[in-house]
Amino acid sequence: MSRTKRKIQHIQHALSIGQSRMNGLDDVTFVHQCLPNLSLADINLDSKIGELVTGSPIFINAMTGGGGEETLKINEQLARAAAECNIPLAVGSQMSAIKNPEEASSYEIVRKANPNGLIFANLGSEATVEQAERAVDMIKANALQIHLNVVQELVMPEGDRDFTGALNRIGAVVNSLNIPVIVKEVGFGMNKEAASQLLSVGVSAIDTGGFGGTNFAEIENKRREKYLTYFNEWGISTASSVAEIASIAPPNSIIGSGGIQNAYDAAKAIALGASGVGMAGYFLKILLKNGYDMLLQEISLLHADIKMIMTALGTKNIEELQNAPLVISGKTHHWLTERGVQ
Ligand code: FNR
Repeated sequence: MSRTKRKIQHIQHALSIGQSRMNGLDDVTFVHQCLPNLSLADINLDSKIGELVTGSPIFINAMTGGGGEETLKINEQLARAAAECNIPLAVGSQMSAIKNPEEASSYEIVRKANPNGLIFANLGSEATVEQAERAVDMIKANALQIHLNVVQELVMPEGDRDFTGALNRIGAVVNSLNIPVIVKEVGFGMNKEAASQLLSVGVSAIDTGGFGGTNFAEIENKRREKYLTYFNEWGISTASSVAEIASIAPPNSIIGSGGIQNAYDAAKAIALGASGVGMAGYFLKILLKNGYDMLLQEISLLHADIKMIMTALGTKNIEELQNAPLVISGKTHHWLTERGVQ
């Protein structure tokens, strides 16, 4: 099956399966502040992802790529929305365009539609230094995302089976590029030990890609005859991933993602330690079911709602929100206790 066809199937299955609500963020409760001593007008959403300065913690996470009119149109609309709302955007994996240069137009359109915004290139951890340089150059990217997706590959009938050497290759890419490298999962989460290894080779930010939203085991299971059902519930939730990694990572090096569906989820991910919040499946659903204008409305509503939540908490900027007091209950509390995270 061609990569393009596979990517169209991913979009169709992502929409039909939808996002679960198992991201663990429902276990997180803010401690209400009845004396916030600030005004809504004073709230500032500027943030940092690694060395990158952003006007908002929210960004559109990696989705589509490959050839074909449909993906080109989706990418163009996502890029225009990101420009209009001044939020970063990550493109989907560019490996297909590196292997088939005629597909590059569906990525290049992103830079054309969004000439001045922050755009992240995207490749898997099999990428060589040369491939990483080409992916960055293709869209004049401001950062490179490298995705880790072992479980997705295992469930994919035609997927990779050899996962050796990824950390070394990532380190080599970090050393050769002069832009930040972000390493992300795609919905199975990350533990603090892996994050620590990635940070030790110079990765600027870790995107948790936690369990509980879009589920690539379920998506790939739909594409095979004999289901590997045990992987459908596999992964570390977004809440647990962010909290684990926050216990070892430097400031501004965590992106909370995986099942983020509203401003409340985003604010909780930030309060657990993230400085960026990636949203993929939720934005894709709005764009494809409700259209471009609704996507714009939704992003501006997200910003307005985060400001309301920050006002109620008395936190005037993202750094203060990161330190807002929380109570963690249920499965997430249990997980963090077992994992030795306070
Ligand atoms: C993705 N995702 C993804 N990630 C990546 O690094 N490279 C890619 O090419 C893709 N492709 C892709 C296609 C589609 C249709 C979806 C919905 C998602 C994964 C995405 O960036 C994110 O990590 C997960 O979807 C989990 O976040 P959400 O969707 O729950 O917000």
